[in-house]
Amino acid sequence: MKVTVVGAGAVGASCAEYIAIKDFASEVVLVDIKEGFAEGKAMDLMQTASLNGFDTKITGVTNDYSKTAGSEVAVITSGIPRKPGMTREELIGINAGIVKTVTENLLKFSPNTIIIVVSNPMDTMTYLVHKTSGLPKNRIIGMGGALDSARFKYRLAEALNCPASDVDGMVIGGHSDVGMVPLIEKAVRNSIPVSEFLSAEKMDEVVEETKIGGATLTKLLGTSAWYAPGAAVSSLVQAIACDQQKMFPCSALVEGEYGLSGLAIGVPCILGKNGIERIVEIELTEGEKQKLSESAEGVQATNDLLDSVL
Ligand code: LAC
Repeated sequence: MKVTVVGAGAVGASCAEYIAIKDFASEVVLVDIKEGFAEGKAMDLMQTASLNGFDTKITGVTNDYSKTAGSEVAVITSGIPRKPGMTREELIGINAGIVKTVTENLLKFSPNTIIIVVSNPMDTMTYLVHKTSGLPKNRIIGMGGALDSARFKYRLAEALNCPASDVDGMVIGGHSDVGMVPLIEKAVRNSIPVSEFLSAEKMDEVVEETKIGGATLTKLLGTSAWYAPGAAVSSLVQAIACDQQKMFPCSALVEGEYGLSGLAIGVPCILGKNGIERIVEIELTEGEKQKLSESAEGVQATNDLLDSVL
């Protein structure tokens, strides 16, 4: 399996590193517009191969998409990350042009590729790829829910004082500070609802901390995070590469699911060799439905903004 990662910044490089360490892809091509940058990152990563024990071949190129030809999966991380105090939505003007051009370049050389969108505002960038690429909807996946769910499980594990591997939970909705919908009532610790262990107050706190998970890190780091985003993307790529039929909340084009249509938003998806194999419709409580519908309104407002700048 050949994978292209566009953008050799912190998220792209971290994604390439996790893909290599998991050792399921034969080749990862890193692309960046900055002369020599992707080549440098690729060389640095390749010098860890004997230490970390992987056989994946990582190469770097400066804007030469011919080297990405025949990629089965392509990850788009390009664009500017947010700075402290910025929302993901504020990046739309610059990132829309970049994501559109990158998509065109990728499809020129890999017309059958599955695209994973990471650039922010992610749900709207995913919608943009749907709008401009003409690809079938199963081949466009927005990465947000996998990351937000990992952050949710981290916060739950912290509140429960247990390992994150004992916890399960999902975040659906838009990948934004206000739009995320952590499904706290469905979250479990070893199949027991977390409400058995946590007060309502603590559960609210976990939800709020999850929603600002990215913003908290941006404040601490001065730019947006990369380890968890990189690990989340690599998990999606692995699910496709290994045809795992594994479920992740992903930003997918909805056509009536959850009563929503015409936008890409975080919903539970089964991922396999065809990309999104199907969207899973789970029973939501009235409160969860309400939050998802408000989240969709937020994503739609950003999509409308995109339509006005395109
Ligand atoms: C974050 C970016 C990837 O949430 O949106 O860290």
